[in-house]
Amino acid sequence: MIDIHCHILPNIDDGSDSLENSFEMLKLADENGIDVVIATPHFLHYSQLYEFVEDRDEKAKQLNRISSENGCRVVVACGAEVFLDSRVFTADNMDDLTINGSRYMLCEYTLKPFDRDKAIIYAEELIGRGYIPIIAHPERYVTFYNDPEIVNELHDMGCLFQVNASGLAGHGGEKMQDFSLELIKRGFARFVATDAHSPRSRNNKMLEKLAEFPEELSRVELEDLLSNNPLTILKKEKLPEVGVRYF
Ligand SMILES: [Fe+2]
Repeated sequence: MIDIHCHILPNIDDGSDSLENSFEMLKLADENGIDVVIATPHFLHYSQLYEFVEDRDEKAKQLNRISSENGCRVVVACGAEVFLDSRVFTADNMDDLTINGSRYMLCEYTLKPFDRDKAIIYAEELIGRGYIPIIAHPERYVTFYNDPEIVNELHDMGCLFQVNASGLAGHGGEKMQDFSLELIKRGFARFVATDAHSPRSRNNKMLEKLAEFPEELSRVELEDLLSNNPLTILKKEKLPEVGVRYF
């Protein structure tokens, strides 16, 4: 499996707060059948893009060194979880924020209710710059529940969606689990990832969560969500388009 959303790097955001915890998360990834972890620290400070990238790359390198020195098979690659607000218009070249140097960029909106038009405009700006936004955890946005047609619009513009494993496993309640499943079954969500922040709470024990996923998901669907689609991106190839059932 490939985890395309994980806050595994130490002391860069609200994820892992020590090198020990980052190493714990690496070991958990290994035990849970995750071969590659994309480190996606929150990118919030638009004026500090270069410092962010330098810090992230250095920490990923350090973690990879520790991984191989300790016989861990997991490889860490780099990305970011880009917070979308008006400052997106002020950003310089954002190529270093994409997943492993591909054109795919993991993005998030505020968890508070947000203006649908602005959400569309921010995504449009990224697409105009040649990126393909992957909207992280759509099942966490109250705005999408109230107005799921935004999902249709974002999809038609070229956005993809990534559902969190914990939400799909029902940890956020039945409503969140149902919406997560619906996003997958309708063809919008093409990835499931951990969004892990520590080895304990919000962790990356993927196999535990996998066991709690809805039974309606077939093995083939899970392989696409957890392995094949992420691998396509890692290889910097283009994900094949699939039809959706609109909201
Ligand atoms: Fe995240």
